[in-house]
Order: sequence, then C-alpha cells, then structure tokens
Amino acid sequence: MSVGEGADARAAAAVAVAAVLGEGRTLEAALAALPPGRLAPEQRAQAQALAYGTVRWLPRLQRVGAKLVQRRWEDHSPRLQALLLLGLYQLEYAQVPPHAAVSTTVEAAKLVGEGRAAGLVNACLRRFQREREALLAHADRSLAGRTAHPQWFVDAFVRDWPAQAAAMLDADNAHPPLVLRANARRISTAALAERLAAAGHATRPVPFAPRALVMEKPVDVRRLPEFVEGLCSVQDAAAQLAVPLLACEPGHRVLDACAAPGGKACHLLEETPELAELVALDVDPARAARIRENLDRLGLAATVTVGDALADDWWDGRPFDRILLDAPCSGTGVIRRHPDIKLLRRPADVGPLAERQRRLLAALWPKLAPGGRLVYATCSVLKAENADVVADFLRDTPGAAEVPESARLAAPLSPALPGRSGREAGAGPGFALLPGAADTDGFYYACLTRPT
Ligand SMILES: C[S@@+](CC[C@H](N)C(=O)[O-])C[C@H]1O[C@@H](n2cnc3c(N)ncnc32)[C@H](O)[C@@H]1O
Repeated sequence: MSVGEGADARAAAAVAVAAVLGEGRTLEAALAALPPGRLAPEQRAQAQALAYGTVRWLPRLQRVGAKLVQRRWEDHSPRLQALLLLGLYQLEYAQVPPHAAVSTTVEAAKLVGEGRAAGLVNACLRRFQREREALLAHADRSLAGRTAHPQWFVDAFVRDWPAQAAAMLDADNAHPPLVLRANARRISTAALAERLAAAGHATRPVPFAPRALVMEKPVDVRRLPEFVEGLCSVQDAAAQLAVPLLACEPGHRVLDACAAPGGKACHLLEETPELAELVALDVDPARAARIRENLDRLGLAATVTVGDALADDWWDGRPFDRILLDAPCSGTGVIRRHPDIKLLRRPADVGPLAERQRRLLAALWPKLAPGGRLVYATCSVLKAENADVVADFLRDTPGAAEVPESARLAAPLSPALPGRSGREAGAGPGFALLPGAADTDGFYYACLTRPT
C-alpha cells in the first residue's frame, strides 16, 4: 500500500466521521454519500472499517484529543476533529503500523482541505505516541471515558441496570457478529450450515434461536449465494425471538405495525405459511419498499401498506389476532452495530420516544381481537421505553394483561444470562436481553393480551 492509496481511504473515513460530528448524519448515510467511483472497493471497505472504529471509540479518543490541542476541542472544525480522532484510533486500536497511521492521516488532511493543519495533526499524533500512557490514564479516569460512552448513557445504564451496566458498556464496543436466519420455507438450519461450511464459511448455532447461525467470520452477504437466492436473511438472534412470542396459528390475521425493512415480518411468514393475512405497515414509503424487496428475495407474500399506525385510515376495521409493535426507539440496545448512536442520541430524545411508544400502543390496542396477543418490542435497553411504557399501559387499560409467555421464554435464557434477565424483582413486565449477556443485541419484549 502506498501512502497515497492509504490516504484516500483515511480522507474518506474522515469526511464520513466529520459528517456525523458536524451535521448529525448517521454513519451509514455519511458513508453512502461518499462520491461513487473515487474509491476502489477495497479502499471503500477500509474507509468504512476505519470510520466505524473511530466512531465506536470516539468518546474516549476525544478526551485524549482535547488534551493534545491548545484551543478548545469544540473550536476545531469537524474535519480536523475527525482527522485527529482517526489518527488516534489507528494508533490505539487498528492493526496499522504507527508510522503508516501518522503519515497517511497527515496526507489525508491535505486531501480533505485541512492542509494547513497537517503539521498540527502530525504533532498531535506523535505526541500521543510519546505520552500514550498518561493521556489514556486521563481519559480512563471515568467509566464513561474508559468505555467510550457519553456520560448520560453511563448514568442511564447504571440507573436502570446497576449490576449489569459495566458489562453492557463493554459489550457495546465489541464487534457484532453477523447472524443469519435460515428461511424455514426453503432450508433447514442444519442444511444451511452445511452449505455454508462447504463454501468455507464456518457457523455456530444459537441455543435459544433455532433458525439462527452465527458466522465465525464476517462476509459481505450480498456475495453469499445463499442470501441472494433467499435461503437466509441477516437478523440478530435477539430479534428472532419476536416470532415465537407471537405464537401465530394458521388462519390468523396479523398486523406488523412498524414493519420496515421487514425482518420480523419475513421471519413470521417463513414460520407460519398458513396465515390468513399479514399486514406489514410502515409510515415511511422508502422503508416500506425494502419490505417488498425482502419479501421478493425470500419468496414470501404480505399486504404491504404505507400508513401511520397512530391513525386509522389504513385499517378496514377487521380486528387482528396478533399485533407486533416493534416500536421506533433510542436503539440503545444496538450500539455495537450502530456506534454513531453514542453521538447522535441525546438525553432529551428519550421522553418524546417513550411518549410516541405509549401512543402507538394505545392506538393499536383497539385493533386487537378479544383473546388476541400484542407483542411490544424495542431494541432499547432503557426502562423508560420498555417496562415503564408497558407497566403504565397495563395499569391504565382495563382487561389488558401480560401473557406469562414472555417469562416462560425468558426462563431458558436465564442460565445463559446469569442475573441478566429483566425478570429480576422490580424489573416490571416483559423481559430484556442485555448486551454483554448472551452475545446478542439488546432487546425488550412484552406479550400482552385482552380478555375474550
Ligand atoms: C424498529 S424499526 C422496525 C424494524 C422491523 N420490525 C424489522 O424487524 O425489520 C421501526 C419502524 O417503525 C416505523 N415507524 C415509525 N413510526 C411509525 C408509525 N407511526 N406508523 C408506522 N410505522 C412507523 C419506522 O419507519 C421504522 O421502519
């Protein structure tokens, strides 16, 4: 690799990280917006890995960076901040020889219009090499610094999960595994594992998610014939629990009220082919299009509807036997997959999100048939969005009751989750899978029913 090639990938990574810092864009959107064609596929992959790593560790690296510059950290442009953080990330975490980390980052500064700061970047990174231990010791004085989270996340996790918070914070920084879900209509989990093994891809099963296979090494799924042919999908094992909790039966009419991109809707159709109908609703037309893409790839059919679950205009008045409310949430359970959540989410977001979740639950409840079941799910680990929402709903809604199913499903998980099920005393209804427990994303589920 010449400095020039390496610098191009660094420049692209710095532009993407700066867009997260300065414009509040998601990292995925920032990387997708990089000019097509300027980078070879390997450089693009390298830029992505560097940008994700930098953002994952950013709250720790920023504490170091702030000690290296003379002016206030915030007074530097997002691009310069991004370059310094990217250089520090490589020196501390990436498998990059230190001299290459420094020289390519200095070169990248010139490529992204920060040429005047190239000397500053060089000086800061070299000083970090000399004073690494003291600088990191400073950053690591707090749990927030050591685990690279904003302080408010640490406070919220410690408040909600005092015994588990440290493991959760560490797990957020782990590289997430690629988990596949076998399409039960087309292939058994064992047969899929065999096909993948024959192609050189080792996998391991997940005891509590019978369709799940964890890939031992990451791959680009778009290049996996098994994915392209619709034999499998990408879905974390925790997300694969929604379908057993819904316990659909042949002939049921089912609503997936927040369905895009269709992960759980497709899983449901794979497991229960004889449903009367699955209505896959989403308010966002572009995201609803992704439900159709996934249905097509997997050879499945559903009634895909663009509409607002808070309104009634999309509903024909016929009740549903099952409703899945996979509610929009803070995403605090999936930080390991989306580390930019650390930077983009604000404490003030949680109240309005919980309010929307309450309104969604109240709006959908009258659409549930007597004796039917509603599964409330989020990929948040905050009680304000989970047990608090459900507990208030149960208190305020005559006849609404929790189905013991969620507790039963949580029980077999408990050995794998010592002390980590949300079923502890005082934890409220439903159950939580916490990051750091069983190598899953963080998720919350509650099963509710109304009397016949
Ligand atoms: C957590 S994602 C759903 C993931 C999906 N269930 C899956 O498994 O692939 C939440 C979805 O809710 C949708 N959404 C947000 N507010 C909504 C509303 N008022 N009505 C319908 N959909 C909504 C968002 O567009 C987003 O696609």
